[in-house]
Amino acid sequence: MLKDSLLKALSHQVNQEYYSAYLYLAMSSYAEGMGFKGIANWFFVQAQEEMAHGIHMYQYILERGSAPVFADIEAPPSSFESIQDAFEKVLDHEQHVTESINAIATLALQEHDHAGYTFIMWYVKEQVEEEASAGDILAKFTNFGGDPALLFTLNTEMAARVFVNPFPAA
Ligand code: FEO
Repeated sequence: MLKDSLLKALSHQVNQEYYSAYLYLAMSSYAEGMGFKGIANWFFVQAQEEMAHGIHMYQYILERGSAPVFADIEAPPSSFESIQDAFEKVLDHEQHVTESINAIATLALQEHDHAGYTFIMWYVKEQVEEEASAGDILAKFTNFGGDPALLFTLNTEMAARVFVNPFPAA
């Protein structure tokens, strides 16, 4: 069984992963409404990944013989100022998630839960990729934001993204 503190933290993180999925669905819907189907696809795949992160953590809580604590999922913003604004919010959000995941890793160590610590390390590594990916996209806006072709190029590139379940056996 998980200690109560870790159960609460992991349950809260499951909620955060689902909030992340909601946030990316809101961004996908925004991009779709702007006519950028490729960018909408990128956000949609991101939302699918977040749901996979949440389910994997939920299953881990059960595997440890505990029962997840459920709570309301916050509503995401309903609109964005621009596609660039959405990606700026992606980076802000992923930085916030990184802090939350790191706090779970610290808690697992404090509780001497080495299995829990090993489990959460996958998410620690994933957050490095998540932040790097958002940072790379934002760098394009910094470097080429004055070029009206940027959004069309991004739209074409992002149409190719395909969801791959990071936990295929789950
Ligand atoms: Fe579940 Fe965006 O990290």
